[in-house]
Amino acid sequence: MKSTFPLFPPSVSTYSGEVDRLFLSWSVISAFFTILIAGLILYFMVRYRRRHPEEVGESERAAMWLEIGWSVIPLIIMLAMFAWGLRVFIHIYRPPADAVEYTAIGRQWMWKVQHPGGQREINTLHVPVGQPIKVTLASEDVIHSFFIPAFRVKQDAVPGRFTSLWFSATKPGVYHLFCAEYCGTEHSRMIGSVIAMEPRDYENWLAGGTAGKSMAASGADLFQSQFACATCHRAGASGRLARGPALEGLYGSQQKLANGGTVIADDDYIRESILNPTAKIVAGWEPVMPTFQGQVTEEQLTQLIAYIRTLGPTPGATPAGGTPQTPDNNAPQAAGPAGPATTPQK
Ligand code: CUA
Repeated sequence: MKSTFPLFPPSVSTYSGEVDRLFLSWSVISAFFTILIAGLILYFMVRYRRRHPEEVGESERAAMWLEIGWSVIPLIIMLAMFAWGLRVFIHIYRPPADAVEYTAIGRQWMWKVQHPGGQREINTLHVPVGQPIKVTLASEDVIHSFFIPAFRVKQDAVPGRFTSLWFSATKPGVYHLFCAEYCGTEHSRMIGSVIAMEPRDYENWLAGGTAGKSMAASGADLFQSQFACATCHRAGASGRLARGPALEGLYGSQQKLANGGTVIADDDYIRESILNPTAKIVAGWEPVMPTFQGQVTEEQLTQLIAYIRTLGPTPGATPAGGTPQTPDNNAPQAAGPAGPATTPQK
């Protein structure tokens, strides 16, 4: 039995302390003004009560310094709270450049997790301590929300688009993973755990599992065989004989569109081009690609994108701190500033 009443979940990510300080400060400021105002109401009730039945109220002019003071001081406090909150928000939702990328796909009622090396898990997520982890979220049906209280992070998984979050665990342990968005009858049972391990234990865990194929290798298979994308999107293809643009060097680059606009080839663009190919036609190409809506799962989409990332923009380039055996981690970071659409919108 625990001797203490746990008011807060453990605070074990690099920014969880920051979130707690912000939350506590806001609570203290709110409590202070609540007590101040409630106290003044009570005091004035007594102080200015009607003393005789025939007593009539009279108007009083408030002093100018008081009027300005109680407008300007709260304004400054509010702006400071906003600025601080914004700083923490930006920190939480902007993954560092060396983050390793996982995917988590929500469906009624489970989380399907895939590691960059290809390992899969359901409702569990093994992570090494001290390593920033970016989790790209998608949903196969309704809105779910990926919530790890101990890391102070929560992000919706929305059907039809990608969202993401990141964290870096600071202490080994087993922590709750919740779905925090009502998503159907078994929403309350859509729970799992995040298992933060020392890096060496994590390596052992990886080695013990059935690794399967990396995200990018699975995507390459889908690209070559299952969906036969390669029949049209052939490397080096150009001219009249090619039916679709080659995808080498595509990821993170800017593409000219047939309608005169431009688009950055990020996760969301590639996703749209697979599901709704005619939405944004690249200049110089015919809208002949069939849709893969309903044929390709969310999981396969993330694998295809992982593969397309490995094709460029600079194949083989590995930024410092990258893990060479999983090149799919590196490409998006290399394109970091050019790919703002992968950062969540809220
Ligand atoms: Cu999924 Cu609630």
